[in-house]
Amino acid sequence: MRPEEPIAIRLEDYRPPDWLVDTVHLDIDLHPTEARVIATLKMRPNPDADGARAIVLDGDELKLSRITLDGKTLDPRAYVATPERLTIPRPPSGPITLEIETLLNPSTNTQLMGLYQSNGIYCTQCEAEGFRRITYFPDRPDVMAVYTTRIEADKAAAPILLANGNMTESGDIDNGRHFAVWHDPFPKPSYLFAMVGGDLAFIEDTFRTMSGRDVALKIYVEHGKAHLCDYAMDSLKRSMRWDEEVFGREYDLDIFMIVAVADFNMGAMENKGLNIFNDKYVLASPETATDADYASIEAIVAHEYFHNWTGNRITCRDWFQLCLKEGLTVFRDQEFSADQRSAALERIGDVRNLRAIQFTEDSGPLAHPVRPSMYREINNFYTPTIYEKGAEIIRMLRVMIGREDFRRGMDLYFDRHDGDAATIEQFIACFAEASKRDLTHFSQWYSQAGTPHVAAEGQWNAEAKTYRLDLVQNTLPTPGQPSKEPQVIPLAVALFDEQGRAMKTDEHLIVLDRASQSVEFRNIKSRPVLSINREFSAPIVLRTNATEEDTQVLAAHDTDSFNRWQAIQTLAMKWLVAHVRGAEANTAAPLLDALKNVLADRKLAPAFVAQALAMPTEGDIAGEIAKNVDPDAIFRARKALRGTLSEELRASLQAAYDTYAASRGPFNPDAKSAGERALKNAALDLLAANGDAKAIALAARQFADADNMTDRMAALAALMPHDIPEREQAFKALYDRFENDPLVIDKWLTMQAMVPEAATFDRIKALTEHKAFSFKNPNRVRALIGAFAGNPSQFNRPDGAGYRYLTETAVAIDPQNPQLAARLMGAFKTWRRLEPGRAAAAEAALKAVAKAPNLSRDLADIVGRALA
Ligand code: ARG
Ligand code: ZN
Repeated sequence: MRPEEPIAIRLEDYRPPDWLVDTVHLDIDLHPTEARVIATLKMRPNPDADGARAIVLDGDELKLSRITLDGKTLDPRAYVATPERLTIPRPPSGPITLEIETLLNPSTNTQLMGLYQSNGIYCTQCEAEGFRRITYFPDRPDVMAVYTTRIEADKAAAPILLANGNMTESGDIDNGRHFAVWHDPFPKPSYLFAMVGGDLAFIEDTFRTMSGRDVALKIYVEHGKAHLCDYAMDSLKRSMRWDEEVFGREYDLDIFMIVAVADFNMGAMENKGLNIFNDKYVLASPETATDADYASIEAIVAHEYFHNWTGNRITCRDWFQLCLKEGLTVFRDQEFSADQRSAALERIGDVRNLRAIQFTEDSGPLAHPVRPSMYREINNFYTPTIYEKGAEIIRMLRVMIGREDFRRGMDLYFDRHDGDAATIEQFIACFAEASKRDLTHFSQWYSQAGTPHVAAEGQWNAEAKTYRLDLVQNTLPTPGQPSKEPQVIPLAVALFDEQGRAMKTDEHLIVLDRASQSVEFRNIKSRPVLSINREFSAPIVLRTNATEEDTQVLAAHDTDSFNRWQAIQTLAMKWLVAHVRGAEANTAAPLLDALKNVLADRKLAPAFVAQALAMPTEGDIAGEIAKNVDPDAIFRARKALRGTLSEELRASLQAAYDTYAASRGPFNPDAKSAGERALKNAALDLLAANGDAKAIALAARQFADADNMTDRMAALAALMPHDIPEREQAFKALYDRFENDPLVIDKWLTMQAMVPEAATFDRIKALTEHKAFSFKNPNRVRALIGAFAGNPSQFNRPDGAGYRYLTETAVAIDPQNPQLAARLMGAFKTWRRLEPGRAAAAEAALKAVAKAPNLSRDLADIVGRALA
């Protein structure tokens, strides 16, 4: 029996709201089990709507205690209230004021949507549809209102009371209670509402905007954590400056606040003036956070801040337009990180991530367009496709029209749509106007799912001195889209000669927009080597007729760092795929040469060398093989390759390690120092790949002596694949030292879940019983169960036990936190490419979930699509 299919919501069914809300006055009386909310809504019929004029307000598990219309108690026959809906079938025809009182229980709200408690702190999460868990409301992003929020609470339990906007009033009342009133003058959709109440510590700073206004900045955290917020504050100030300098965007309220909480379903949330964050993306010290953590904090603080313009000042008309704010804001945060750190390294990292999380989604059963046309549960569409592929579309747009027209298009968008709930069409129209181009075909990137495959074959004609490039594109079918149209694919191209010197044809942009087309370069006097899709100008899978020698030329000489790195990956991937397919005899010599070269090149940034040394992941290899995937064979191939590198490059790896191990000063999280640590640790990782005794001792020593978490975790990662006492000692030492720091405990859980041994399965089951673990906290669950699902050889055990464990865990979590349960199931986005035995086991596990009673909409939707 299939789960009951949740109702389909379709883009084509969009209708403007029948009623608008001009102002919302919320009166929130905080109490752990009986919080009272009085919402006063000034509403009027929408002049732009047609159809019936009934008032239909959304709810979710709500309990109505009172309702008045224009000051008079509403006759029970004049409305229908269920937990999910409040309907007034025949309201007056003009403006009205509704006063609605609801009662909530924050302490039992385990979904972490709406108003809930995290370690005793009251907080809210309303995106996408959480506001309806607080009060009855037209909970859709095109209903924008001005909010005033009065919060009242016990002063001892919640001395800090925060909401969107500026504080206008506060004071004490009797019985130890107090209140605060916040007013947000910017009309906003309900998903951007937030409030917080609790006993919090904070740090503060100020920022002077480009027009000279002073903005108060505050970061609130649990007591005892205020010393961990400096990097987040610094990231915030740099983000504010950057948005002024690069996009001309100034902050608009007198205060900007961040609150970090321990229990949060996602990374963070851009509520107007009051961002709420997962602790993980605020708290950092050298002792507890790695370089990667610092980089994520910087990126996410920036991301949420940038939403103030791309998301808040201009929001989305409906949830189908989610990429309008998310893809654009990811693009903006990637650009910010590139400017703060290294553009080349940022691009390599972003593409690695895109391939790992988005290409896999786009080639499996959960593939969907960047702007979907149908959803059943919107929470399941906060995906790598909407976010990361959405960002790639913006990047391609900039490549297509050039930086100047791109900036003019952005300016026009901010100018024209400030205050609007906008659509993708309106966004694209700004760039079409600014660049005077027809972007109709380009826009298909929003509606067509799947990653295009492009074949690029070059032929040099010695007599005619021409080089012809034949390009063919093809996109495989995805769910609901059996046949595909050609996409508009911008390909940045350069030619090198066989010695690696740039040919006089400078970088060139080819726009492939038909199924196949050819380009001819003239006056090419020697056989060229093609560098194509430079800087990863389009999110495609590329095949070329390059020889291994050509790839070696690029690995040694390409002036585009991205493609130089890519060439090295290509050499590695070629070896790996051959090995997985059983070709033992193939030589790693070209890859070894390339890596020796890179290791010896003192001009290269250490961070680049570290990326070059990081071989394709098991997931990358599975993606390349695409069919009939055997995760064990992939694991063995990758292990063999790393073993070869370890032996053949030993001297230069040791030299790289020694160079950067020696240069130690006080910890600095900046890009340069992080890059040096990255190279040292990449060298250590390869040195230890075979379990060589000297290298293991080196890793164990680094673990023991490290004065920062980056080096400590890197040492543990080098020990992790080996079943040796040093590893177990390190796990124990990490726990003993950090048992009271949940964010480090997450690393401890994750590292154990990643061990590529059969015993890992029992280890993670045992860890779920550990006192440091809790199924209630999403960070813990993701750190342990999520990491296990990302352990390719162990999650994909041939006996299917990994699949069953994951699905059973998801079903168990579902009643408590459906979003978390559905997220875990993302591990099944690649099940169809597995070899038949594993695929059958995965399918059986999915079918068992489908049969479970009372599935949430979140879980039923994911399982339904994974099986379809
Ligand atoms: N808008 C947030 C961000 O990307 C994500 C919040 C998503 N929350 C959710 N429950 N779906 O910054
Ligand atoms: Zn976002």
